[in-house]
Amino acid sequence: MWHVQIIHGPNLNLLGRREPAMYGRLTLAEIDEQLRADAAKANIELQTFQSNSEGAIVDAVHQAAEWADGLVINPGAYTHYSYAIRDAIAGVGLPAVEVHLSNVHAREPFRRTSVIAPVCAGQIAGFGAQSYCLGLEALIGRLETRPSF
Ligand code: DQA
Repeated sequence: MWHVQIIHGPNLNLLGRREPAMYGRLTLAEIDEQLRADAAKANIELQTFQSNSEGAIVDAVHQAAEWADGLVINPGAYTHYSYAIRDAIAGVGLPAVEVHLSNVHAREPFRRTSVIAPVCAGQIAGFGAQSYCLGLEALIGRLETRPSF
């Protein structure tokens, strides 16, 4: 059984009413529910966490290293400038997948840079709430094909 930590960054607690044309109408609770349903079908233990604070996200990455096999993270705006979250992911060495609801590459220029992606297995962006499900699937694929030595 794989153990996965989902981390949602700042302002994602507002999903459902935050710029719905950009981020969709599902709430964060509904996205988490979908992820839990996917996880249950695939026999994955999943924990979800949201914070608006950079330090709390760093702490969540550190704590995940105590029990999880990997991370799916939407760092929100921290994607574009948080060296602290990047260093936390690199520091714990857990495989991570970066996800975004919107296609960050088709938006303002500052969103095209991710300081997190280089320490992740990959990035999935632009599929709305489905980005998280695809991210979970990609992470499990990575865990299952990872050499165990
Ligand atoms: C986001 C994209 C970020 O640029 C933005 O700051 C967010 C949401 C996304 O999921 O599309 O908060 O991470």
